[in-house]
Amino acid sequence: MKPPYLITKEEILNFYKSVNPLTHKGIQGHAVIVAGSYGKIGAAVLASKSCLKSGCGLVTAFTPKCGYQILQVSIPEVMVVTDENSNFITHIQLPLIPKAIGIGPGIGQELGAQKALFEFLRTNTSSLVLDADALNILSKNKSWLELVPQDTILTPHQKELERLIGKWDSESEKFQKAIAFSEQYKVIIVMKGAPTFIINKTAVYQNTTGNAALATAGTGDVLTGIITSLLAQEYEPFQAAKLGVFLHGLTADIALPQKGYQSFIASDIIENLGKAFL
Ligand code: APR
Ligand code: MG
Repeated sequence: MKPPYLITKEEILNFYKSVNPLTHKGIQGHAVIVAGSYGKIGAAVLASKSCLKSGCGLVTAFTPKCGYQILQVSIPEVMVVTDENSNFITHIQLPLIPKAIGIGPGIGQELGAQKALFEFLRTNTSSLVLDADALNILSKNKSWLELVPQDTILTPHQKELERLIGKWDSESEKFQKAIAFSEQYKVIIVMKGAPTFIINKTAVYQNTTGNAALATAGTGDVLTGIITSLLAQEYEPFQAAKLGVFLHGLTADIALPQKGYQSFIASDIIENLGKAFL
């Protein structure tokens, strides 16, 4: 394999869009986050908040009934639509067709959630980010991968990647398998880790930001929100993935001198997004 291209500030500035002073929230894009289940509504909070704080104009969270008050109180700017079920999602019904939808953080793998994802994929027309349990559900039902639209962004950590593409014996085999998977299903794979790599068919990019402070609960949920927001702002999917991982890592680089590795938490990514954009 050729050495990967690097995701640097120079690379990002080739396509970064500054905000038009005459824009309004309708133009900035509407994103939907499908996340959370009983005991994991925090995943929906983190993904929805990071989505809103990454520049899109409107965010709707879709969550089971038990998440309603938690989301409304913790992020008043986010609209909330609930499933008919209390503790996990069973039927993704949205009052709109948004530009971008991020699905998966904390949704669990109950049969109801699996069915919800299958029915959703059969009719969806929005650009997608699939993360966490959405990926685990697809790993259990591999034929459903055919329903995933072209250029969907998958954001697996190492274990989720292994469930999707199978075990590897060496790093080079891991990349070969990920490239083959990306080509077969025409998807973009954000292989999260230290560092994160992005695979778009045979193109391999390596992120240059981020540090071990990110090794803490919920940081992946935040990344899902950021990338979904960028897709809603009509960045091309490959660009949204690159800009998303770059900004996500940059927040940890900015915060490290004040927070240290130990006390940095996923909410600190959200708090430092403004500085990262600036
Ligand atoms: N250096 C740089 N980046 C790191 C490091 C490190 N040492 N450790 C972790 N990261 C980054 C990863 O690159 C990724 O962007 O932190 C993020 C971690 O994402 P996840 O592994 O998805 O973690 P998390 O958000 O806590 O996942 C929450 O979702 O995926 C499921 O099984 C997971 O139940 C868990 C839940
Ligand atoms: Mg995760």
